[in-house]
Amino acid sequence: MNKKEKWSLSPSLESTQHVSIQKQYSLYINGKWVKPNSGIYFPSINPADESHLSSVAHANEKDVDLAVKAARAAFPSWSKLAPSERAKYIYRIARVMQEKSRELAVVETLDGGKPIRESRDIDIPLACNHFFYYAGWADKLCYAFPNRKVEPLGVAAQIIPWNFPLLMAAWKIAPALATGNTVVLKPAESTSLTALKLAEIIDEIGLPKGVVNIITGFGDTGAALVNHPDVNKIAFTGSTQVGKIIQKAIVGTSKKATLELGGKSANIIFDDAPIDQAVEGIVNGIFFNQGHVCCAGSRLFVQENIADKVIRKLKLRLKSLYVGNPLDKNTDIGAINSKEQLEIIKSFISVGKKEGAEIYQPTCEIPKKGYYCPPTLFLNVAQSHTIVQEEIFGPVLTIQTFRTIDEVIQKANNTPYGLAAGVWTDKGSRIFNLTTKLKAGVVWANTYNKFDPTSPFGGYKESGFGREGGLHGLAAYTKLS
Ligand code: NAI
Ligand code: MG
Repeated sequence: MNKKEKWSLSPSLESTQHVSIQKQYSLYINGKWVKPNSGIYFPSINPADESHLSSVAHANEKDVDLAVKAARAAFPSWSKLAPSERAKYIYRIARVMQEKSRELAVVETLDGGKPIRESRDIDIPLACNHFFYYAGWADKLCYAFPNRKVEPLGVAAQIIPWNFPLLMAAWKIAPALATGNTVVLKPAESTSLTALKLAEIIDEIGLPKGVVNIITGFGDTGAALVNHPDVNKIAFTGSTQVGKIIQKAIVGTSKKATLELGGKSANIIFDDAPIDQAVEGIVNGIFFNQGHVCCAGSRLFVQENIADKVIRKLKLRLKSLYVGNPLDKNTDIGAINSKEQLEIIKSFISVGKKEGAEIYQPTCEIPKKGYYCPPTLFLNVAQSHTIVQEEIFGPVLTIQTFRTIDEVIQKANNTPYGLAAGVWTDKGSRIFNLTTKLKAGVVWANTYNKFDPTSPFGGYKESGFGREGGLHGLAAYTKLS
């Protein structure tokens, strides 16, 4: 190929014809769509082109109270329903989600900016699988917890973030229902639409009224839900900052909590690793979902003797990443979720430069409208750099080198977080050695960002506590005696 020749990809846009988004969404409380007490609706924006998608209700304290009361009223009969009947409802949710998966994928991409390939192949199938998986457990709780009495906790208040909107709703709702709890769920303000589509599905399958209530709004809505005296359990995924506020708010109450917070996870490449595979793993680790991933492999550690080679290959790979319209099936990196998040990422990039790190960004054409950020590498960074310490939540990777195992363990653990890590090596014993020494809830070996409903997920230290997924995920919604 002539070196100057430029390859361009013909657009391959996913159709939006089959998608129905209402102009306005009210709150889904007690099996009905009700107007918010506040009378206020706020816009949901498509971050890819800044267009207005819909208006969504802003729930206030009174709305929160109505939703919690509905969940409380539904609790006695739902928790006493034969577990096999509960399973059927959860199974129906999974089936209808599967039937509507194409529409759900497009809505997820429109509202949140993630590439259609990801919402179609990862978010939506995984969300369905969570419902299928927990439907299976509903009538087998005595096998999940042998010789124990298993009881639900009551009303679960669930607050979710904007990076995996429908998937996080599934992670939270499925185990809560399987164990006989009732739910009030609040999606994030920039990505309410797939949760509202889920409310339509829940309505369609005839789930008893009040068992799942979905209310939309901002941080004040979330805070009102956390502080409501009649909730028994709080499940939160989001920033460490808000996680700390929630922890303070529930001190001295009997409310149970699981907090899934931020991260600054290490991705470690040893010199015996399959290099090309590792480069793909690095790319997947940090550029999947624009880096809006709590467990993103945002700190890369490469063994010194292969650093030049890995960095050269990584830079080359970055040049082939396609940044642009999330609905285009060619797109690797879609839109940043919101204007606010783009500002946060940009300010971290300028801090990185100011602190003296060396930046690399491939030249790529970025759409004029919408919120976009090119894939970014930072070299020559030290442990003390802000961009090495703080969660950026964007497509920004810091690169450091190491010589010995002890050195990399010490560096990888030198963070207030402890959510995930990746290890790339040919040696099984080295993997086992590292999994015991890295202070991270999940350690992937020769892969990254692999999720499965059967496998528990969660963090240490400032990444939060409690586990979601698998048997551990059931335990978090039960009282065992
Ligand atoms: P956030 O933590 O404020 O939002 C997450 C959810 O919590 C949303 O539904 C929000 O409405 C709700 N919320 C906000 N304040 C609340 C309060 N006082 N009480 C109860 N609920 C509340 O995250 P935000 O502001 O959207 O993003 C800021 C930063 O947080 C990001 O730049 C990123 O670094 C981090 N983040 C991390 C996530 C993760 O999964 N680790 C997810 C989202 C954000
Ligand atoms: Mg949006």
